[in-house]
Amino acid sequence: MTSNHTTSRPIGIFDSGIGGLTVAKALVAHLPKENIIYFGDTAHMPYGDKSTAAIQAYAVKIAQMLLQQECKLILIACYSATAAAYELVKEYIGNRAIVVNVVDPVVHLLKGNYAAKRIGLIGTRQTVNSNIFKRKVDSLKLDINLSAYSTNLLASAIEEFGNHLVIDSLLDVYLAHPSLQEIDALILACTHYPIIKERILLHYQQSQQKTIDIIDSSDIVAQTVKMQLDENLLLNDQGTSNKHFYVSDYTDSFARNAKLFFGETIHLEHYPLWD
Ligand code: DGL
Repeated sequence: MTSNHTTSRPIGIFDSGIGGLTVAKALVAHLPKENIIYFGDTAHMPYGDKSTAAIQAYAVKIAQMLLQQECKLILIACYSATAAAYELVKEYIGNRAIVVNVVDPVVHLLKGNYAAKRIGLIGTRQTVNSNIFKRKVDSLKLDINLSAYSTNLLASAIEEFGNHLVIDSLLDVYLAHPSLQEIDALILACTHYPIIKERILLHYQQSQQKTIDIIDSSDIVAQTVKMQLDENLLLNDQGTSNKHFYVSDYTDSFARNAKLFFGETIHLEHYPLWD
């Protein structure tokens, strides 16, 4: 295998649905020459409600499929899957590909910028109940006061409506929770949420009369991927980028939202991983 062939191997990205496209979009901006395979496990969306064991089974099977496609790096572009299955996927992949998750880059950001701050976090039930952030943040010993609250319906609502006005009613209910008041920053611990980032920002501006930092991991995760590829001499800086977008269940609403969000160039295919 020539080194050129090695660097042109694709980056595999997966999520339960369109959420991971927020990360894929940032990745394309940072790494325009990379080949990309995106897999949205729409047949099992939402992941947030599934058991840890179920998400682990989905994630390993998807990782196996991405390995078969010769991916050099697998990006788990989903907090719920990271919380439930990152360690397992990493063990399964071994040294056959690099595995990157969406949690560690955020923890790294907190470490450098948010000592002694009060931070809110919203995510799925799986992500919040796993306590993955709390464990990692507490181990930094930086006196960061983290309160996590599950906004479980949001991802499905975004999948259904995209960035629509109707989302504001859900935000009014969820973000009014006492644990999310008087915070310096809010972590969007679900890759669907950057799609409605402006609404969240506006909600806090109106309800607290102040601007808080909204921590959206897309860019820092893309930078982490770039760094990892660079360190492993796997950066692809030649040729044109090929992008394949697969879903385990093809629905019109998914296709519509994915196109709206990522641009008209998206070509979605059904990949029968569970048939
Ligand atoms: N986008 C996902 C996450 O980051 C999953 C949302 C869901 O399927 O519940 O957690």
